[in-house]
Amino acid sequence: MSAASAPPSNDLPHSALQRLSRHASVLSGQMQALSATLFPPASKKALRSFSSGEVARFVGVSDGYLRQLSLDGLGPVPALSNGGRRSYTPSQIDELRHYLAASRPKDALSFLPHRRPGDKLQVVAVANFKGGSAKTTTALYLAQFLALEGHRVLAIDLDPQASLSSMFGYQPEFDVGEGETLYGAIRYDEARRPMAAVVRPTYFSGVSLVPANLELMEFEHQTPRAMVDRPLRGGELFFRRVASAIAEVESDFDVVVIDCPPQLGYLTMGALNAATAMLVTIHPQMVDVASMSQFLLMTSDVMGVIEEAGGRLDYDFLRFVVTRHDPNDVPETQIVALLRNLFGGDVLGATVWKSTAIANAGLTKQSLYELEKGAVGRAAYERALDSVNGANVEVLNLLKAVWGR
Ligand SMILES: Nc1ncnc2c1ncn2[C@@H]1O[C@H](COP(=O)(O)OP(=O)(O)OP(=O)(O)O)[C@@H](O)[C@H]1O
Ligand SMILES: [Mg+2]
Repeated sequence: MSAASAPPSNDLPHSALQRLSRHASVLSGQMQALSATLFPPASKKALRSFSSGEVARFVGVSDGYLRQLSLDGLGPVPALSNGGRRSYTPSQIDELRHYLAASRPKDALSFLPHRRPGDKLQVVAVANFKGGSAKTTTALYLAQFLALEGHRVLAIDLDPQASLSSMFGYQPEFDVGEGETLYGAIRYDEARRPMAAVVRPTYFSGVSLVPANLELMEFEHQTPRAMVDRPLRGGELFFRRVASAIAEVESDFDVVVIDCPPQLGYLTMGALNAATAMLVTIHPQMVDVASMSQFLLMTSDVMGVIEEAGGRLDYDFLRFVVTRHDPNDVPETQIVALLRNLFGGDVLGATVWKSTAIANAGLTKQSLYELEKGAVGRAAYERALDSVNGANVEVLNLLKAVWGR
């Protein structure tokens, strides 16, 4: 090999610190270039149109009824493909909901399922400190599903790694500035901002987002100091701050979905305190189940501490969600059976299947709800979406039950 083509590592600085910092800046530059070509930025992302079959399912009427409406010239006018298929944009789905609610007042609640006076805001925390147990994927699909069902959803990315934010097209390093994460609304100093200032819209109609980036780590560092300083500075206790921030915007939303980081730090404790329900994701493999038992023990310890300090932890429901499940893998099915045996009805009936469609959607930063039909094989796409929706429908029914519906 000639000197000219020698690997650049020869020019690397000697000190480990300088090397790390150089690698970081090289990688960051590459990632920015890559993401610009590979992943659409938030400003370019757009939600696809939905077929009338999908819309009928989401809105809760039959496809035939939708066809009749459009033949009669009532409600929004769907686009017609050459093959005569009708499709609706997200804003047309919203228009359709309003049209149906007005023309069938008796069923208005099912067409426009927003919270009514007296219905409480529901805050669902998706947690487990096992990395890769599909917390972010579960939070993403739940938030998007609830929005398609007609709810006003706030997704909060509480993980400094910001995977949820990047699924919504916001690159944590470039699109999220100082004070623009939840940290901006829960920090202890004068730089604290109103929660409304850190909530931003997303291209996905019905979902707003509080994005994340590394600055969230500050909360883990500042909290021990704030606890010492508290007599001087006053203010909310650390574990109440997430709940207080959410309370500031509560009238704008029906459901808040929090994607927790894979550890039980102060941020996660804040989320557990703000939550009215908890979903614990679980990849059904022996190592993951073993570490989940640690998670449950530690979580119940932490909850005990929060309750002793006067925190409120009355969950309407707690469910285990089996994710990334391969139903053809015998050891996995045994573990699922074991979980059902141990936790009974606290395990969702539907399991989310392992699927390359979901994994690929994660890689290309487009959820299954965004992919145009044909982007992946139709059968694989539908199997994956069915299994995701199966779990989401169960969670939706739990939320509805809390609202007494
Ligand atoms: N049902 C599924 N089938 C196949 N791959 C999946 C499925 N669900 C999630 N994945 C993939 O598994 C990986 C981990 O998922 P995800 O990021 O949602 O987990 P996580 O618990 O949020 O991880 P972390 O602890 O790092 O925050 C991702 O690459 C994701 O695309
Ligand atoms: Mg995650």
